Amino acid sequence: CSSSELTGILASKLNDSSAAGYQPLFKSFATDAIHVGSEPEQWNSRAVVPPISLSTTFKQHGPGKHAGFDYSRCGNPTRSCLERAVAALDGAQYCLALSSGMAATLTITHLLKAGDGILCMNEVYGGTNEYFSKIAAEFGLDVSFADLTKLELLKAALKPNTKMVWIETPTNPTLKVVDIKGCADIKLNTDLNISLFLSFLEQRPLALGADICMYSATKYMNGHSDVVMGLISLSRDDLNELLKFLQSALGAVPSPFDCYMCHRGLKTLHVRMKQHFKNAMAAAQFLEADLRVDRVIFPGLPSHPQHELTKRQCTGCPGMISFYIKGKLEHASTFLRSLKLFTLADSLGGVESLAEHPVSMTHVSVPENEKKELGISDTLIRLSVGLEDEENIIADLDQALCAAVSISEHISFLHSLT
Ligand SMILES: Cc1ncc(COP(=O)(O)O)c(C=O)c1O
Repeated sequence: CSSSELTGILASKLNDSSAAGYQPLFKSFATDAIHVGSEPEQWNSRAVVPPISLSTTFKQHGPGKHAGFDYSRCGNPTRSCLERAVAALDGAQYCLALSSGMAATLTITHLLKAGDGILCMNEVYGGTNEYFSKIAAEFGLDVSFADLTKLELLKAALKPNTKMVWIETPTNPTLKVVDIKGCADIKLNTDLNISLFLSFLEQRPLALGADICMYSATKYMNGHSDVVMGLISLSRDDLNELLKFLQSALGAVPSPFDCYMCHRGLKTLHVRMKQHFKNAMAAAQFLEADLRVDRVIFPGLPSHPQHELTKRQCTGCPGMISFYIKGKLEHASTFLRSLKLFTLADSLGGVESLAEHPVSMTHVSVPENEKKELGISDTLIRLSVGLEDEENIIADLDQALCAAVSISEHISFLHSLT
């Protein structure tokens, strides 16, 4: 059943025109990615690459009179370079770097006080769900969940005490797309917050009306699976003042080395995201045409229910694909164990292709009924398509499908239905 021929034919037909119909790329994005925060003139040495500033403390001219930095938790030159770059790339006034995506989430949540309400998308990163429902709720926050892809459900779920609406788009692992502008247009006494794993090359939630945008930079922004970090971008002065205070007071700040690494990763973000999209589109089209696959979920495919919305609010798609393999748990398991190029591992957004089984890995802690409701079943597989050669990516998927589901097994299955 293996076919390098099939792979070749599909590969030659795939994309190039895949980006058609999406939002235009953000102006000067590549130039800003490479230059903002890296200006040699900011250093006496005229270093072209920002130095890693390890000092935890800084000499003051006089008591209380410093040259921009006093103590490294409150501000650090290497972190400041990264924060300026991210703000420019996100079209934001401000950015704050935190030690992880979860640290960013908890820092934002500290804007609220006991009794305030959080309305959260029903499908969010498992750690976010656990933090809101098991920790924030213990501290007196009123947490509720709803399917925020439906704006009427968002309106219905808002309460007088709702202070924060938390959406994630695309969702993980079933890649639902949330209408950011639609959510932001529903005006209440609410600070609208967004959590994403889509890189900011591809959507700008602040420009669509969000107040705060949060990223796990562990994923595409750093992009090399070697830094854990969170980023918050925003343009509201009042919220920035509060968050700056919280960043320093809670103290979940990243190390200067990690800031350097993430800043370096950002400089190739535009090139990487283009290729992630191209490779993912090729893989999604291959999987969609394959009889051994039941359904493919990729916002870049016209078959995705929110494909038009994706084109309306994004410049492209990240390399995330989910699909249901035909058969049962054993087929999914054999597929994942048979992959050679894709690595079976959690996380996403790095240069290397990763695959995982949400039901037994990233989403194992989600209650059974919620898994069922969200479609996180035994046969669901999530791929983070990396930057390897497209034909090698497709060939690996093909051989693992062969190992998992033989065509004869599939034909006898079809016969059993007739
Ligand atoms: C959407 C989303 N939010 C938050 C997080 C948490 O980020 P981190 O692992 O950097 O703490 C993740 C991590 O997978 C994520 O995908």
